[in-house]
Amino acid sequence: MNVLVTGGAGFIGSHTVVELVNAGFSPVIIDDLSNSSITVLTGLKNILGFDVPFYQADCNDFSTVESIVKKHDIQGIIHFAAFKAVGESVQKPIKYYKNNIGSLLNILEVMQATSVQNLVFSSSCTVYGEPDLIPVSEETPKKKTESPYGNTKAIAEDILEDVIKSGENMNIISLRYFNPIGAHDSAEIGELPNGVPSNLIPFVTQTAIGKRPKLVVFGNDYDTVDGSNVRDFIHVVDLAKAHVAALDLLKTKNGTFYDVFNIGTGKGNSVLEVIQTFEKVNGLKLNYEIGPRRAGDVEKIYGNVEKASKILNWKTEKTLEESLKDAWAWELKLKNNNN
Ligand code: NAD
Ligand code: WQD
Repeated sequence: MNVLVTGGAGFIGSHTVVELVNAGFSPVIIDDLSNSSITVLTGLKNILGFDVPFYQADCNDFSTVESIVKKHDIQGIIHFAAFKAVGESVQKPIKYYKNNIGSLLNILEVMQATSVQNLVFSSSCTVYGEPDLIPVSEETPKKKTESPYGNTKAIAEDILEDVIKSGENMNIISLRYFNPIGAHDSAEIGELPNGVPSNLIPFVTQTAIGKRPKLVVFGNDYDTVDGSNVRDFIHVVDLAKAHVAALDLLKTKNGTFYDVFNIGTGKGNSVLEVIQTFEKVNGLKLNYEIGPRRAGDVEKIYGNVEKASKILNWKTEKTLEESLKDAWAWELKLKNNNN
């Protein structure tokens, strides 16, 4: 099956491309490189041994996406392409609504025009906002989040549900990711954010390597095990494999199918536990200090992942220790490449 991977040069997309090939799918990438580098393609080639078809294009461009879908006889789409910086989305909501909602609508129109049936959409645990009860399951009510970014994911899910309710001949799965971290164990691909990272792990590795003077832990006065926030940190390769499982399920459906799955480890770890584990598994000391809370942070969240385990026949295989070792190996590789 030929699968279009929008945002396939990005962090999760690039790891998914590898797992698609491992599972016998043929991926084709569209990415405008707005938050990724062309060098990702070299990493992919080093892992896979061949060039994955790549188009530098904007997913909002109907005729370009349509022509790529037709040219490659695409039968499934995984739509990763989106902007994801929560803080920036508060400053630039129009940019976020336009790209994240606009590109999804465009992909749906291309699917209609070309009769592509299968879509996997990148959603997020951000749709749960600050949950009243954890772990959150797919039945946990969605809550309006404080960020336009979070809203784009909640709105996108509503759009997809409505499309299927209308009787559209499509099969769609939204995967609600928790916090993806780590890198491919070859260290050929990993997380490569443009500019100052806002996510925890790239900030940790960049501090450890000396690119940043210190890490600030955003608060230690939460009602958690050690006062720092708790998250469900999932290895990006495990997350990538969930997309293969989702496509495998979609292939068995005959249209008008929609479902949503939590994709996490089912366990919570605090920010301070992550720092201590990072130091331990990599044998180093991290320069960090406790700072004030970050506006908008959820106190604690992790997922109930029973549904994905039962229906997608998927579960995580990698540990927090492996994730943090792989993230560090990737940072070291980046340093060597730049020297
Ligand atoms: P990423 O920024 O590394 O990857 C997204 C890719 O999409 C980038 O390569 C970017 O250049 C590309 N892109 C953006 N807009 C585009 C457009 N209009 N046309 C073509 N390409 C475009 O992000 P990621 O961490 O890999 O996230 C992938 C998806 O998963 C996103 O939809 C994100 O919102 C979602 N998600 C991410 C996380 C996370 O913590 N990383 C958690 C939950 C959900
Ligand atoms: C993790 C924890 C921070 C940086 C975001 C989005 C969410 C989803 C995943 C896409 C938090 C703490 C961080 C630092 C810190 N993305 N931290 N110092 O906030 O859980 O979720 O990414 O959908 O929508 O909101 O991820 O990696 O930013 O933070 O102490 O320098 O690390 O406070 O507790 P977050 P994150």
